[in-house]
Amino acid sequence: MKTIQLTETQQWHNLKRHYAKIRKLHLRYLFEDQDRFNKFSVHDDKIGLVFDYSKNIITLESKELLVDLIRSIKLNDYIDKMFTGNNINFTENRAVLHVALRNKSNCPIYVQGKDIMPDINLMLYKMKWCSDAIRNGSWRGITGKKITDIVNIGIGGSDLGPRMICEALQSYSKQGLNIHFVSNIDTSDIYTQYSKLNLESTIFIISSKTFTTAETLVNARIAKQLIVSKFGYNALKQHFIAISTNNVKALEFGVDKNNIFKFWDFVCGRYSVWSSIGLPIACYIGFNNFVELLNGAYHIDQHFRYTKYENNIPVIMAILSFWYNNFFNAYSHAILPYSQYLHIFPKYIQQLEMESNGKSINMESHAINYHTGSIIWGDVGTNAQHSFFQLLHQGTRLIPCDFIGFIKPFQQFNKNHHKLLMANYFAQTKALAFGVTKQEIIEKLVNDKNNLQDIDIISAHKVCVGNKPTTSILFRELNPKILGALIALYEHKTFVQGVIWNINSFDQWGVELGKSVATEIMLVLNDNRFNMNKITKYDVSTRNLINIFTSQYNIATNAKLR
Ligand code: F6P
Repeated sequence: MKTIQLTETQQWHNLKRHYAKIRKLHLRYLFEDQDRFNKFSVHDDKIGLVFDYSKNIITLESKELLVDLIRSIKLNDYIDKMFTGNNINFTENRAVLHVALRNKSNCPIYVQGKDIMPDINLMLYKMKWCSDAIRNGSWRGITGKKITDIVNIGIGGSDLGPRMICEALQSYSKQGLNIHFVSNIDTSDIYTQYSKLNLESTIFIISSKTFTTAETLVNARIAKQLIVSKFGYNALKQHFIAISTNNVKALEFGVDKNNIFKFWDFVCGRYSVWSSIGLPIACYIGFNNFVELLNGAYHIDQHFRYTKYENNIPVIMAILSFWYNNFFNAYSHAILPYSQYLHIFPKYIQQLEMESNGKSINMESHAINYHTGSIIWGDVGTNAQHSFFQLLHQGTRLIPCDFIGFIKPFQQFNKNHHKLLMANYFAQTKALAFGVTKQEIIEKLVNDKNNLQDIDIISAHKVCVGNKPTTSILFRELNPKILGALIALYEHKTFVQGVIWNINSFDQWGVELGKSVATEIMLVLNDNRFNMNKITKYDVSTRNLINIFTSQYNIATNAKLR
């Protein structure tokens, strides 16, 4: 059956026509409307959020047309399907229910006829028990020492969420309890992390949905070897926890059955931080704070589910990104938190959006003829201002940006410190939107009586044309509840984008291909009788690279041993 591509719909054509009409409009002109901020911002006083999208290249008509597209694809039906446990991840035949993990109403949610809430509540109960025991010192190491160090071993969604949140909420942590994250298969990562530990007071959490991920298993085996060689096999019980859907493999590894925290196939890796994958967070900042994180996400779930499209923040985030990606040909989107504690946040959103929406086959299994997922990147302000902002201001590419800021400082060393950070936060969106004209520069140079003979040349280089779109996401403060809300906003944005692009946002077959090819090549690298001519099924590039590596690897490693 031939499917109608998004680009063939009436809504797409309407948007295309509208784009041709408004593409040259400048934000300077749009802001002649003194009511623009009121028209293009959403305020959520309950959570303490101002979402200002007025500095985007849209008019009321653009918004109407974009919302019309959302209506035509029946977004609400998809939202209902997700919240009620339909198998919307149809390539893996799974429901997608990270929202159930923070379902504070506790109303039943059914998967294959079974209410999953009792299981989720049990998981939370066990997380509380475990995190309390580690924090209050009743969980002891094999020699009787209290736990001082937690090491999370995991990768991708089994690493980034806990890592990002523990970093962001470090001011909520308990003194004397340290957290470490090991993810990369690179030996230098493990070496730096493991070498500084006192094993007697260390607990390792192996986080892996599948318990088959090579990186995690290799790193976990090294940790196991360290513990077993020092304290014997019995010590595994005090020093290892596993979080996985694969009970059998976790038991085989040697984790005590009571130390296995389960979660479920209906939780996708990059959305798993709300599940027992969040255990390191609960240990680090306390279970009650972990619950606050869930509360914040639940607040946004309610907003997303029940707010009309026009004021629905994740919907607006998604349509804006679609607008730039598919009409303005913007390739990427920058995430710019003005908080050092959120320095991992752009990376987290990078996995969330790029692993979810880096797809080119639609729901009807046909190749699509339009662009999907943007390249997500970013860094914290103000650091980023001194690295890549120049390109944002004067480069040739259009890069929409999200500026994330907080009103209340975490700590003040003097009364202007936070104000200075926020002055930059406000200044950048203003400068990006409105730029500076040659006339304004000349006037300033004349006023300052500066370089008057080169005035023409200098002013030409100083011009910033502006019209660079930004969205300001301004929260009251960085706390667990607000961080939960912030993450959920991006999760639902990603979901809406997937629905617009008509793709499955919840599988990752590209990543799976990479994993299986690596497994195959590992067999080649381990073959003592390796002969380049035997792997003729490989292309000449890969064959030659492997050949150079294998011939020089032995020499290099033997030399080191000597
Ligand atoms: O990167 C692919 C992926 O499957 C992610 O979605 C997942 O978070 C990560 O690998 C780790 O997988 P696991 O938790 O099964 O070890």
